[in-house]
Amino acid sequence: MISKAALVAAAASLLLAHPGQAQSLYGKNSAVVQISGMDYDRVIAKSNYTSIVEFYAPWCGHCKNLKPAYESAAKSLAGIAKVAAVNCDDEMNKPFCGQMGVQGFPTLKIVRPSKKAGKPIVEDYQGQRAAKAIVEAVKAKIPNTVKKVTDQTLDEWLNEKNETAKAILFSDKGLISATLKALAIDFGGLVSVAQIRNKETAATKMFGIEKVPTLILLPGGTQEPIFHQGEMKKEAMVEFLSQVAPPNPDCPPPKAKKSKSKKDDKATPKSPKASSSKVSSSEKPVKSTTPEVKDDTIPVPAEEPRPTIPVLSERSELEASCLNDNAKTCVIAMLPKDETSEAATTALASLASIHKKHRASHIFPFFGVSAANPLASPLISNLKLGGENEVHLIATNAKRGWWKKYSGQSFDAVQVEAWVDAIRMGEGKKEKLPDSVITTGEAPKPKKEEPVEQQPIQIEIEEIIEETPDESLATEPKTEEPVEDRPVQITPEHSEL
Ligand SMILES: *[C@@H]1O[C@H](CO)[C@@H](O)[C@H](O)[C@H]1NC(C)=O
Ligand SMILES: *[C@@H]1O[C@H](CO)[C@@H](O)[C@H](O)[C@H]1NC(C)=O
Repeated sequence: MISKAALVAAAASLLLAHPGQAQSLYGKNSAVVQISGMDYDRVIAKSNYTSIVEFYAPWCGHCKNLKPAYESAAKSLAGIAKVAAVNCDDEMNKPFCGQMGVQGFPTLKIVRPSKKAGKPIVEDYQGQRAAKAIVEAVKAKIPNTVKKVTDQTLDEWLNEKNETAKAILFSDKGLISATLKALAIDFGGLVSVAQIRNKETAATKMFGIEKVPTLILLPGGTQEPIFHQGEMKKEAMVEFLSQVAPPNPDCPPPKAKKSKSKKDDKATPKSPKASSSKVSSSEKPVKSTTPEVKDDTIPVPAEEPRPTIPVLSERSELEASCLNDNAKTCVIAMLPKDETSEAATTALASLASIHKKHRASHIFPFFGVSAANPLASPLISNLKLGGENEVHLIATNAKRGWWKKYSGQSFDAVQVEAWVDAIRMGEGKKEKLPDSVITTGEAPKPKKEEPVEQQPIQIEIEEIIEETPDESLATEPKTEEPVEDRPVQITPEHSEL
C-alpha cells in the first residue's frame, strides 16, 4: 500500500529527478531508512539486527518499480529487521557503493551480524522483488538467541543465571518467530528468552497457562512471574520486558563531533522506539551545547546526588554480605587507609555509577571494604593482592568458591564496567577462593541443599559460557525446522508466535 503522501512524493521525484541528480527515492517519512555510506558502518554493520540494504539510483526504472514492494517489506519488518536504502547517485555515496561491489541498480544485500562484532556477513539478495519474498528472506537470516525448552529442560534453564531476568513464551508452535528472535536481540545480555510448546504439560501446569501465546517475565531471584497482558506485538512486548531493563539500542549512538555533541544519548537510543527498524533522524547527530559525552561512560549529572556504595568496616558485615559459604557474587573494592586517595575515590565513584546503571537488571552487590575492617588485612594477604596502601578490586563468590581480580590500569568507569560485564557473562579466569577466608559455622543465611553447588567450578564456567549471548548470537540461526517451509504471515505479528 502506498500512502497519498508517498504518491505525491514519488510524483514530485519523477518531475524533479534527472539523471545525475541526487534525489532520494525514499522520503523522510518512509519506513525505509535512507542511509549514506557514512552511516552504514554504525547503523548497519555494527547493529545486532539483520538488515537489508538497497543500493539504487533515483532515475533507474527497476528501482522505482521496486519501491512499493520495498516500502511494504519495511513496514512488515518494523521492529524485526532493518530495511535501508543507499542512493548511489549521490556523489558522497559513490565510493561506498563501489566498495560494496554494486554494479547495477537496484542491488539488494542482506547484512547480518557475524561472530566478529562490527564485521557482518553480507550476501546479495537475488530472490523475487516482491514484499513477501523479501520479508521471508530477511527473517530467515535473523540470528536466534532464543532457547527452546521442554518439560525436561525447563528447570535447568530456570536455574541458569537464576538472579538475572528471563522471559518465556508459551506457544503452540515449534518454530521460533522472527518477532521473538528480535525481542531476544533487543534484550541480549539483559533478559534470557526461551520458548516452550503448550504440549509440555508439566510446564503449562506449573505456570497455569490458559492460552497461547502467553509471554511471562521472570524478573529474577525469588520474584514472582509476571504475565504479559498486552498485545502480542513486538512493541508491546518490548515495553513489557522494559520493566526489567531498557532494551539495547539498535545500533551504537552516533559519535559526537569534536566541537559539538550528539543529543542526549541517555534517552533516545535506549527507548523502546529505538528497537524498531526505523533509524530515524533522531539518531543523527544533533547540534547541542552540552559537553561531549562518550556513550560508554556513565554521566553523573551534577544536579543528582552522586550514587554511592556501602563501605563495610565491620567484620560481620563483610562476612554476612560476601564471605559466608552461601554468599553469591560480590564486587569488592579493598580500600587503603586513606579513603580519600584518588584511586579510592575514583574506584568508589566508578563502582557506584556502574551499580546504579545496572540496578534494574539485578546486578550483584558492590561494596567498599575499609582498611579498618579486621578482615581486610587477612583477605589481602590470603589472596596475595599486594600493598595495603593500594586499592584492590576483586569479585568473590564464596558459595561457589571462586574469586577474580581486576587488573586494569585505572579505575575509570569504562574499564571497570567491562570487567564487571565479563563477570556477568561468566568470562575470564576464576581463582579458587581459599577456604580460610570463607566463614561456614555461623553463616548468617540458612544453607540449602542444592546439588548444583557441589559441582566443580569448571562445570559452572562452561555452562555460563555456553549461554553467553554474544556466543549464541554469533552462531547460525538455530531453527530446527526449515524456515522456508513456513507460510509468510506479514500481518498480524502474533500469528507466528
Ligand atoms: C531462583 O532461586 C530461588 C532459590 O533458589 C528460587 O526460589 C527462585 O524461584 C528461583 N528463581 C527463578 C526465576 O528460577
Ligand atoms: C548487541 O548485543 C549485546 C548483547 O548481546 C549488547 O550488549 C550490545 O549492547 C548490543 N549492541 C547494540 C549496538 O545494541
